[in-house]
Order: sequence, then C-alpha cells, then structure tokens
Amino acid sequence: MKTKAPSYETQELREFAEVLQGRRTIELFLQTPVPNALVKEAIEAATWAPNHRVTEPWRFYLLGKHTIERCLQLCYDLVSAKKGEKAGEFKRERWSEKPGWLVVTCNKSPDELQQREDYAACAAAVQNFMLYLWKAGVGCKWTTGAITRDERFSEIAGFDSDTAFVVGLIWFGYPKLTPTQSRKSLTEVLTELD
Ligand SMILES: Cc1cc2nc3c(=O)[nH]c(=O)nc-3n(C[C@H](O)[C@H](O)[C@H](O)COP(=O)(O)O)c2cc1C
Repeated sequence: MKTKAPSYETQELREFAEVLQGRRTIELFLQTPVPNALVKEAIEAATWAPNHRVTEPWRFYLLGKHTIERCLQLCYDLVSAKKGEKAGEFKRERWSEKPGWLVVTCNKSPDELQQREDYAACAAAVQNFMLYLWKAGVGCKWTTGAITRDERFSEIAGFDSDTAFVVGLIWFGYPKLTPTQSRKSLTEVLTELD
C-alpha cells in the first residue's frame, strides 16, 4: 500500500534552497579573519560527503601565514616567468588579499573507476565545505589554476604528488562583493523518461 509523502513545503527547505542557490564564487573578500573553529567545522562537514566504498580519499591542508607567503612567491615566480615582473607583482598583490587558503587533495588510485569515484567524492566534499561556510556568511573561490598543478606547490602544501593530486585550492573569507549568476532552466538540463 502506498503512503502519502510528507509535506515538503517547509520554511526549512526553502531556506536550504536559498543556501544552495545563493552561494556564489567570491573574488573579492573583506580582510575580516574567519574564525579557525568555524573553518574546522566546515572541514568536518566536508568529510561527511558521500564516498564510494568509504575510501575517504580527501586530505585537507589549511595554510598559515608562512605557507601562504610561500604560495604568493610561487605565484609571482610563475606569472613573472611567463608575463613579466609587473604582471607577477600584480597577481601576487591580488592573491595576498585572499584571507583563507585551504588545499584539498584526492588520494591517487591505480584503479581508474575508483579514481573517478574518489575524485567525485572529493568534489562533493568541497561543496559541503563551501556550503557550510556560506551559511555562516563566508564565501569561497575554488581554483584549479596553474599553481595547483606545479610540483613546487605540493612541496609547499606538504603532500606527496606521487600519491595525491590537488582537487582545488579554496580561498575563503567574508565577501566584499557577491556577484550574480544564472543557470540554464530545468527544461534545458532535465530529461524525464517514462
Ligand atoms: C573544479 C572547479 C575548478 C574551478 N576552477 C576555477 C578557476 O581556476 N578559476 C576561476 O575563476 N574559477 C574556478 N572555478 C569556479 C567557477 O568558475 C564557478 O563555480 C563558476 O563560474 C560558477 O559560479 P558560481 O560558483 O558562483 O555558481 C572552479 C570551479 C570548479 C567546480
């Protein structure tokens, strides 16, 4: 016998949807520090992401002042080698305004299917992290820029690139400006089958 689904038209669900839809990638941050305890709560929330066979393939590296400084130097080195010192300085300056830095890595797997699934799990973990912070008023930018693929970056962040790869460098902080975004309509992305 079929039973009636519980009502889903609740205030809580609407608020949850607002968090999901309202989260934006943040480019410009205030310099207000984000409480360390809040960041750790968000990392813990990240670890509750689904992961096939419970491999828990993610590792998190929360960077402090000294390590961020080394990343800024690497940023400068990479950009200035390609585009000149002025461009390097410009980018270094811009990046020095990112208040929080979190590196998320995924363990490497020799099995192709498991690797895909582990990467998917890590992406879900990053989303958990970002949404948790968003609900607390903190924005993020997930970047996979060239720096994250540079051998020197793994040395700075302190992980072994033979056994793990970067899922993202996540900058976080209180938003100075929250941009708008749009998405395709449901009819463009959804196919319903009989
Ligand atoms: C795997 C991944 C990598 C990303 N890398 C970058 C990046 O390197 N640079 C960047 O500006 N944005 C990056 N983004 C953020 C996207 O550009 C952003 O999510 C997109 O513009 C949609 O904006 P929204 O997050 O506000 O919805 C990345 C997002 C994902 C999921």
